[in-house]
Amino acid sequence: MTDLIGQAVQTLKSGHLVGIPTETVYGLAADAANPIAINKIFATKGRPTGHPLIVHIAKPVLEKLNQEEKYAAWEKQLALWARDVPSEALLLAEAFWPGPLTMILPKAKNVLSEITGGQETVGIRCPNHPVALELLRRFDGGLAAPSANKFGHISPTTAEHVQDEFPGLLVLDGGACEVGIESTIVDLSRLDTVGPTILRPGAISQEQIHEVLSATLNLITPLEVRSITTSTQATPRVSGSLSAHYAPKTKLVLYRDDMSLNNDVIKQAKKIAWVHLDDGKKLVDKSVSAYIEFIIPNNPVELAKALYATLRSLDKSDYDLILFQAPPLGSEWDAVRDRLSRAAVGSGLI
Ligand code: TXA
Ligand code: MG
Repeated sequence: MTDLIGQAVQTLKSGHLVGIPTETVYGLAADAANPIAINKIFATKGRPTGHPLIVHIAKPVLEKLNQEEKYAAWEKQLALWARDVPSEALLLAEAFWPGPLTMILPKAKNVLSEITGGQETVGIRCPNHPVALELLRRFDGGLAAPSANKFGHISPTTAEHVQDEFPGLLVLDGGACEVGIESTIVDLSRLDTVGPTILRPGAISQEQIHEVLSATLNLITPLEVRSITTSTQATPRVSGSLSAHYAPKTKLVLYRDDMSLNNDVIKQAKKIAWVHLDDGKKLVDKSVSAYIEFIIPNNPVELAKALYATLRSLDKSDYDLILFQAPPLGSEWDAVRDRLSRAAVGSGLI
């Protein structure tokens, strides 16, 4: 049998890129200690340099350890990339890693400026996918990996999506991603001044993070977890925070149930993909003609899982408009609402 993970380790050690599966989306990985390899990520993606990358780290051996030893094991792992690791980071690592959470921490001295975009902080994540974990264990180092898509385009959730984006790239096929959208990013680098801040919503919610930090620290006043959208503080650069992102080439318009669909973009469209939540309601608006109906799960976890594959497959057909029902307002929908709003802004531009 061919040892594909072994081949990937060799490819990465020689300074080349590999497409890797994670539970969120596929990543375009390079050796985090090799500046030439890191520069290939920016060139391949067409991503402006200065946009920082996440370093993916291996899971320490935690079996048979008591709670204190587990914290110490995470601390040792984190200290390879971050300095002054706060206890909050250890609590979150123990609660959510391996998993869809990225922490922003003050960077260790050795972290390349190519990774941090010249900032004093670094993003770190331990992904929860058996192939990624095995690769990281055998690689025995950190892997810098953004989502494996051209800059601004839809993130890939299957190996085939990555091949479509980057023909010829070695891609480890780990099946379709469980989560389907990118990790939650929490900034722990300014705990003294602004407290923990969510920079990008994801599968791990603000409430879950809040619960772990406030319960275990036995705080009198609960810690506040601010979202970037409500924060008034200056925030570090996050490319996912550009408003146009995760976008299909086909124009995408979000609509709410109570909105009239009688506008020019919709009237002029000749072939519409009408995507709506599986909420038992029928499509009634007579002003929309020539549409094909697509029903997506009316549940934030299932919708996240299906979202990017749905957008990619619609983008491959000849629709001139994707009319997408906006998810409800509840906080459990924050992450998919975030991705869909950005997709709408960036859509139809190329
Ligand atoms: O789920 C994920 O996070 C996926 C998988 C592959 O792990 N990765 C991912 O990477 O979404 P990327 O590069 O597409 O998005 C990472 C985001 C970017 O918006 C980047 O700006 C932000 O993380 N980021 C990385 N380091 C940062 C730092 N030091 N400060 C602020 N933001 C940072
Ligand atoms: Mg990305």
